[in-house]
Amino acid sequence: MKTLLAALGLLVLAACAQAADPIIIKFSHVVAMGTPKGKAAQRFKELAEQYTGGAVRVEVYPDSTLYKDKEELEALQLGAVQMIAPSLAKFSPLGIRSFEVFDLPFLFDDEGKLHRVTNGPVGEELLESLESRGIKGLAFWDNGFKSFSANRPIHRPEDLRGLRMRIQSSQTLYEQMRALGAQPEVMGFSEVYQALKAGVVDGTENPHSNLYTQHMHEVQSHVTISRHGYLGYAVLTNLRFWESLPGDVREALARAMKEATLYENSIAREENARAIERVRASGSTEVYELSAAEREAFRQALLPVHRKMAARIGPDLIEAVYEATGFDPSPR
Ligand code: LMR
Repeated sequence: MKTLLAALGLLVLAACAQAADPIIIKFSHVVAMGTPKGKAAQRFKELAEQYTGGAVRVEVYPDSTLYKDKEELEALQLGAVQMIAPSLAKFSPLGIRSFEVFDLPFLFDDEGKLHRVTNGPVGEELLESLESRGIKGLAFWDNGFKSFSANRPIHRPEDLRGLRMRIQSSQTLYEQMRALGAQPEVMGFSEVYQALKAGVVDGTENPHSNLYTQHMHEVQSHVTISRHGYLGYAVLTNLRFWESLPGDVREALARAMKEATLYENSIAREENARAIERVRASGSTEVYELSAAEREAFRQALLPVHRKMAARIGPDLIEAVYEATGFDPSPR
């Protein structure tokens, strides 16, 4: 009976789609199609179109082709795009600083601990906080743990001293680089490759899938697997747009988003592992993995950033994340 009703629902949706122009969802993002986010956006498109029986058409604009990351939040609020999935490090232009909790160095040991936050009450509250800005948070999507890259070997915190390091627009990442004695430079994602190539900046940090698909390794002689911080996303839509959708369409889209999210989070780790293998195979870049003792030296150098950012991010939020993850700042 349930299946029959679902099938009937689809038929009705399809009939409506034929009768009216489809609802267009422009989904803008800044990374390549071959990244976890790029693949999941594509999967969402397929599922959304299928589950709404064509009542919705999703147009995905990858690689900053429609908006760069500085503009996409504004475009979403203005209704020029209906969906974006910015990195959690890029929410401060909204006047919301709490998402920078995800930028705190060494906060998450692994994806499991991260998911305790994103899939739990803290994650839910964070997404809800966006509604005051006219934004509906639909899901968290993984990317992965960041590595440093530069044109010199990076084995110790001191190796970053004096380097101009490109960062995303997060005050917490700014303080992270300052704690290492580097000079942080905020820059849009679409400009990073050229800036590295021209020597405008000396290095950067990113998960491997971003590094590889933007060809950054071709202009960086060294990559250090440091796992010193996490980079992930929130999928956002315009609240007014979302609420204006017919209930059955909204339900179908929520279902598509749920499945695209499961898909995203199931491929992210593997995509990043594959990307670093490709970087290694390219022969252009030396890939080094920090030893446990070297990693601990970075951890000790960066833990003071947690205290420094507490007032900005919110001490209660940081405490709630520590509790959810079992974070332990003592030396290992
Ligand atoms: C970056 O700017 O480095 C990342 O946020 C890009 C992305 O969306 O993964």
